[in-house]
Amino acid sequence: MNEQTEPDGHAGRTGSTGPAGPRHRADRLDGAPAGGGFEGDPRFARGWVLASPMLERLGLARARRRLVDGLSGTVVEVGAGSGATFEHYPPEVRRVVAVEPDRHLREHSRHRADRLVAASATGPSFEVVDAVAEALPVGDGEADAVVFGLVLCTVADVPAALAEARRVLAPGGQVRLLEHVRAGGLPGRVADRIAPVWGRVGGGCRPNQDTGALLAASGFDVSGLRTRPFPPVLPFMPMLSGASRPLGASAP
Ligand SMILES: C[S@@+](CC[C@H](N)C(=O)[O-])C[C@H]1O[C@@H](n2cnc3c(N)ncnc32)[C@H](O)[C@@H]1O
Repeated sequence: MNEQTEPDGHAGRTGSTGPAGPRHRADRLDGAPAGGGFEGDPRFARGWVLASPMLERLGLARARRRLVDGLSGTVVEVGAGSGATFEHYPPEVRRVVAVEPDRHLREHSRHRADRLVAASATGPSFEVVDAVAEALPVGDGEADAVVFGLVLCTVADVPAALAEARRVLAPGGQVRLLEHVRAGGLPGRVADRIAPVWGRVGGGCRPNQDTGALLAASGFDVSGLRTRPFPPVLPFMPMLSGASRPLGASAP
């Protein structure tokens, strides 16, 4: 185990267990653009970590399992937060590049990745990276899937993030989504009204974003996505979920 120091002053660990090579590379990938410039809100990050166990019990854990079910190979998880999805990756996934620009949340992700790697010799490797959705730290066509879980509502430039997802996807690759979206009718109007305050306390989250329309405008096939209520976790925001591929790209 080597101790490395991140440019932001946090210690990262480079671990290697088993024949598959490094199972957890918590430092920046070589040449990767860092998440410099991203201004996370430490109060939101702490609140998210605190609220997480309750949200997972209320149904988020089940939704996360579905989010990554059936994936394999190399996965880029965008905005990994505290790493709550890590434990749900199936064994066919060999490598997870977890992008997280918030330093506090990134540290949580790293600890979680460490624990998972220590507990199982057969799970994926985790590379927890300081970067942003708008500049993913992987090469063209390197990913079998890009996972967005409760993150596109917060990403500053969603079209740029989707263009990056398209760039890094291998032919036949897919985007997986679990994203709350604007509801119709009165709940949608309520979301419009509370959006400014919600964004301030919610780390920049937009409760009224039409993420499906943004995907379609970015050239993704949204026909397989479903929008469903998600009580009791988000009572007035339905959840958009499923798999989507760039139009014109072939399915496997
Ligand atoms: C509501 S949290 C969700 C975290 C995690 N995906 C989960 O499901 O628990 C939103 C996450 O998006 C991250 N985020 C915000 N802007 C981002 C960006 N431009 N690129 C990547 N991640 C971003 C935040 O740091 C935070 O971790």
